[in-house]
Amino acid sequence: MAIPTTFADSMETVQVHDKTFVPFITAEQIQARVSELGALIDREYEGLKPMLIGVLNGSVIFMADLLRNIHTSCEIGFIRVSSYQGTETTGKVRNLIGLSENLEGRHVILVEDIIDTGDTAVYLIDEIRKKNPASLRFATMLFKPASLRQNITPDYVGFEIPPAFVVGYGLDYDGLGRNLADIYQLKS
Ligand code: IMP
Ligand code: MG
Repeated sequence: MAIPTTFADSMETVQVHDKTFVPFITAEQIQARVSELGALIDREYEGLKPMLIGVLNGSVIFMADLLRNIHTSCEIGFIRVSSYQGTETTGKVRNLIGLSENLEGRHVILVEDIIDTGDTAVYLIDEIRKKNPASLRFATMLFKPASLRQNITPDYVGFEIPPAFVVGYGLDYDGLGRNLADIYQLKS
């Protein structure tokens, strides 16, 4: 979906830590889009009992809203990616936590808040594939195509956005801002 161009006049800038953020996507626009995504998933997964797997912490709000817009029978689970800087030779080391469900033969939909470089998405897809799901698709609320450095095309996208940093609707700046109902963009 295209970047929305209308913003509620009543929305004001917010301060998160030391930075100022300006209104970007309203809660109303988000809800309308999530409802469309839910309907799409409903049509494509009718009778398949999909397993939605949310990536904590960022996906928590999107997951809850998406779930309420899916009316076909489905299950959910959550995972977390912990990453730390390894040695210079190993680079960034990632670790997947919480994947206890048996995904063999299941129709899995990974649910993320945002795809930026695509590194996390590619890592997650590789890990989930090892569990032999019947199918695997990727849903993300936000997608920054200009930041992408991996060969990945998400299947369900809320909004494609420019590469500026955003907060709200589950997304944080250094831990804060996740509870904002609207999405805000870093003031340039
Ligand atoms: P990646 O670069 O696609 O691997 O994205 C990694 C993670 O960076 C995402 O899951 C988010 O948690 C975080 N991230 C990327 N862009 C933003 C942003 O604009 N706001 C908040 N978090 C972000
Ligand atoms: Mg994340």
